[in-house]
Amino acid sequence: MQDSRKYTTIHYHQYLGIDELLALQNTRSAAVGKPAHDEMLFIIMHQVYELWFKQILHELDSVCTMFREQRVNVDNMNMVLLRLKRISEIIELMVKQIYVMETLTPLDFLDFRDYLFPASGFQSMQFRMIESTLGLREEDRLTYHGKSYKIVFSDEQQARLNEIEENGSLFELVEQWLERTPFLQFKEFDFLTAYKEAVDRMIRKEQSSIRDTPFLTEKMKAMRLKMLGDSNSYFKHVLSEEEHEKMIESGEARLSYQATIAALLINLYREKPILNIPFNLLMELANIDELLTTWRYRHAQMVMRMIGNKIGTGGSSGHDYLAKTAEKHKIFKDLHNISSLLIPRSELPDLPEDLNQSLGFYYTTH
Ligand code: HEM
Repeated sequence: MQDSRKYTTIHYHQYLGIDELLALQNTRSAAVGKPAHDEMLFIIMHQVYELWFKQILHELDSVCTMFREQRVNVDNMNMVLLRLKRISEIIELMVKQIYVMETLTPLDFLDFRDYLFPASGFQSMQFRMIESTLGLREEDRLTYHGKSYKIVFSDEQQARLNEIEENGSLFELVEQWLERTPFLQFKEFDFLTAYKEAVDRMIRKEQSSIRDTPFLTEKMKAMRLKMLGDSNSYFKHVLSEEEHEKMIESGEARLSYQATIAALLINLYREKPILNIPFNLLMELANIDELLTTWRYRHAQMVMRMIGNKIGTGGSSGHDYLAKTAEKHKIFKDLHNISSLLIPRSELPDLPEDLNQSLGFYYTTH
């Protein structure tokens, strides 16, 4: 039987739609008869970013679909990791591209800035889709003159953004996946109890090394002990569900208690083969968040250099608003906070042998 799928040959230009693509850089300065050389760079830079945003969304959507399967297929985990890694690399490139944008000087920008009013990156639908798909909620965001960031979008676009928010973000999907982590309770072994004992041991050791050192005065020792107490109070939230709930209420934490404990277990025992991929996955998510924050800082810095303290074409306070988003619009900060809960390997509770085997690649011919 002949293969019914016929592949026609295609030219590079047709395949990539080059003619259509290259017809899209229409400078407004030329249209009004005052061509500004640098407007071409400004347009191409934004278009390149929008293309990268499209690719990021393509990857994010596929990762979310894989997570939505009730039990994340183990075979898919590697694919999830590869795609998240791709997103990180793209954002890294996006950060570097700001250097190209900065070859535009503030004075040259003024040659055409008025022509783009009131257009602004603030109206980038794809950027908002990325933020929401990752897990930035409406209530986490800075408001736009007291109004929702969505007001700059059409009804149809707003409906799309609402749909993304309601569908469950990557943050929520990862949270649910973490909550399903086995091994927190394995036969007689209770991870949390063993961890609590280890934390107590570690704190006692730290306290006695301060008390016993001959190199500090009594006053300095008292100060160090107090500082130690303050930093150790952070452990409280993972040692008590109630404390953790209080942190969620105050906005200091977002990840559920159960998911936080699971993320802690994965971080502490990351060398165990079964926990290796989950650990890398959490690292990659933290990486994406960090890179996105770096992009926000770099973009804000560039804006300061370009327009100083002027307001943005989109009507925000400009640099001041953007610098605040870098601080406030972090999504996976709970994963960074896990570092405050880590204890040295030497203090890690030993795992029972059968649990050790379950977490490893254990082969037997019997
Ligand atoms: C000369 C270069 C640029 C300047 C002066 C600039 C300026 C600004 C300003 C002032 C804002 C705040 C909103 C407003 O009031 O308009 C903003 C937001 C934004 N810009 Fe730019 N921008 C530049 C280049 C870019 C590029 C190349 C991109 C890539 C797509 C971009 C993407 C964004 C995004 C996504 C936002 C929204 C950020 C948020 O609300 O968290 N900008 N920009």
